[in-house]
Amino acid sequence: MTDERIEGGRLRDAAFAAMENAYAPYSRFRVGAAVLASSGEIVTGCNVENAAYGEALCAERVAVAAAVAQGLTSFEEIAIASESEEPSPPCGSCRQTMSEFAPDLLVSSYARNGKQATWRLSELLPEAFDVNHLRGRL
Ligand code: THU
Repeated sequence: MTDERIEGGRLRDAAFAAMENAYAPYSRFRVGAAVLASSGEIVTGCNVENAAYGEALCAERVAVAAAVAQGLTSFEEIAIASESEEPSPPCGSCRQTMSEFAPDLLVSSYARNGKQATWRLSELLPEAFDVNHLRGRL
């Protein structure tokens, strides 16, 4: 855990606003995410579930994919908002996706009651698999 934060309130508010658009009729666990690009732009995402349960998309990956689709590939911080009682850490798949673009991303998570936790992605995903592990194979 870390005390560092870059955007604080604005990023948190964007994540909670995105959470309102979550499509989570199966888990009823709504999640919103807001990623701060190095350009200063904020891009949001929410979880998008499906009747074929395994096709659910996490809020963090939706936000990162939307940002990349806008031409943004460098990120400073991501805020995650959920309805849980405790700040919900990002799942393993999201950690790997975020690591592709920002291995040391600041990851802040907020619970419904505003409780907050912040980590560096490098502490959530140590020894990440990255492009260097593909050396000699590309
Ligand atoms: N979920 C996220 O959106 N982000 C995470 O990091 C953890 C899980 C979503 C996926 C699914 O729609 C619901 O939360 C319950 O797992």
